Amino acid sequence: MSDVVRLHQQGGPEVLRLESENVPEPGPGEVRLRQEAVGLNYVDTYFRDGTFPLRPLPAVIGVEAAGTVEAVGPGVTEFSPGQRAGYFFSPGAYRSVRLIAASQLVPVPDDVPSDVAASLLAKGLTAWARVRRVFPVHSGTLAVVTGATGGVGSLLAPWAQHLGAKVVALVARPEQVAAVTALGVEDVAVANTGDLFRLVSQAVQPVDVVYDQVGQAVFDDVAGVLTSGSTLDLLGNASGEIDVSRLRTQASGVRITRSSTGEHLPSRAALLGAAEELFDALREGVFGKREITRYALADVVRAHRDVESRSAGPAPVLIP
Ligand SMILES: NC(=O)c1ccc[n+]([C@@H]2O[C@H](COP(=O)([O-])OP(=O)(O)OC[C@H]3O[C@@H](n4cnc5c(N)ncnc54)[C@H](OP(=O)(O)O)[C@@H]3O)[C@@H](O)[C@H]2O)c1
Repeated sequence: MSDVVRLHQQGGPEVLRLESENVPEPGPGEVRLRQEAVGLNYVDTYFRDGTFPLRPLPAVIGVEAAGTVEAVGPGVTEFSPGQRAGYFFSPGAYRSVRLIAASQLVPVPDDVPSDVAASLLAKGLTAWARVRRVFPVHSGTLAVVTGATGGVGSLLAPWAQHLGAKVVALVARPEQVAAVTALGVEDVAVANTGDLFRLVSQAVQPVDVVYDQVGQAVFDDVAGVLTSGSTLDLLGNASGEIDVSRLRTQASGVRITRSSTGEHLPSRAALLGAAEELFDALREGVFGKREITRYALADVVRAHRDVESRSAGPAPVLIP
């Protein structure tokens, strides 16, 4: 028997229940993965609380994890027992052992621990999709990254800068500035203080792109720096959806994009290539020293409370 966290109904963190299950032998094209770390993502709270539909119930949430292959089913040639692997978006992650299609897995390099991989794949591939596909940055791009202390933002801001962009990062509170400058991003503004407008005005060019994952709480900051020709990438809304029609009246001529990470990874080759770029960037030190917050799988209720109260840090994982 192995551990699994099930929801019998959607609701508050207390609906998450630790139970047991038997995981069978893998079927054709499947792998049985012993998960060493499960990534916690903000989106998990949407599946838990009913913001996103979840059927049928009971259900297992969580989208990413990394671990060691225990067994492979017929037809699997890319992975073998003992090899480490991870995935970035395959619902049903909150468990110690799972079956998963081999086509969803990426190999985890020997020098990347499983907890690092599990804290990195979904958030890092989301950051990759933004800086490589949605609005590819290059030398001379002026990019604003909101939520720069968050899981995605703390990867996106230094990565955009590493690729040559001038980055202005936005954080919620003054005491968070140092954490972002430690990533090598020099221009850090505090939300709702006028800082962002001031820093962007000092640049000799208009803003090319705002990567926004905060939404409502930073609406005025974001609307204030967009000009005709800028791109606003609405990649998340950790504080609630923005009113797009209001934005259009305040900042006309802005290109608005919304997309899921998966849309930018249409093939296995694309997934493997993006994961390789991500692990290379990690190895080069682009993301600085990542502090991982570890919770036992059995402590999942507390972990969700911490994510919702914004105290879990940018890289929380569940350890089965
Ligand atoms: N489109 C996609 O494929 C995709 C993929 C992954 C994630 N997302 C979305 O992107 C968003 C961020 O995800 P994440 O995993 O990075 O979440 P996260 O780690 O919880 O980060 C959220 C960020 O938003 C900031 N924030 C939250 N509420 C705020 C407020 N009221 N005022 C100012 N800043 C606030 C947080 O600041 P603090 O540090 O102060 O808490 C943090 O920097 C979520 O909406 C998620 O669903 C989208």
